[in-house]
Amino acid sequence: MSNLNARMGELKVIPVIAIKDADKAVKLAQVLSENGLPCAEVTFRTEAAAQAIRNIREAFPEMLIGAGTVLNAAQVDEAIDAGVDFIVSPGFNPTTVKYCQQRNMPIIPGVNNPSMVEQAMEMGLDTLKFFPAEPSGGVNMLKAMTAVYPVSFMPTGGVNPANVKDYLGVKSVFACGGTWMVPGNLIDEERWDELAELVKGVADIVA
Ligand code: 3PG
Repeated sequence: MSNLNARMGELKVIPVIAIKDADKAVKLAQVLSENGLPCAEVTFRTEAAAQAIRNIREAFPEMLIGAGTVLNAAQVDEAIDAGVDFIVSPGFNPTTVKYCQQRNMPIIPGVNNPSMVEQAMEMGLDTLKFFPAEPSGGVNMLKAMTAVYPVSFMPTGGVNPANVKDYLGVKSVFACGGTWMVPGNLIDEERWDELAELVKGVADIVA
């Protein structure tokens, strides 16, 4: 198991973040770190993503930081320049995967069926995002693929406090991604105490 998988596996849950204002990133990272989840997958769904990553990296050099929703090589470059440890993409794009491999940057691309798993394996990958997990058949689909393929999965998309333990109970799952503990409105409105409670709740659920 890679060092990255091991670190994610210890955390069990990876907060998936869409942040609109990079100035709020450090406080958000502080809330995550102080409440047992020193990790952030900052999605490139907002303009602020790269600067948010840079701010978090500077304030919390040890934090595990990824870029999410990375769709092309230019975003890979932006994410690496900002200081990420890993990259996540919603789908399986061989061009983006190849580019990350050239740049020696771990990528966890999204797959949701056997053909995509095999294409990813052919490119030397053994760590994949199962996305969107719930609409793609959820735990049952994941179990069926786990029976066949020697890969590890990070289910994301519809994972929530009610089903996260079911996902984590599947042998191939090393961690789950999700937005439920970092809702955008709480970040926008700087409701840090409520965020802290949600993050603490994750630790309780997966303990
Ligand atoms: C992602 O970008 O990985 C997903 O949007 C997260 O899905 P969720 O909002 O259902 O957790």
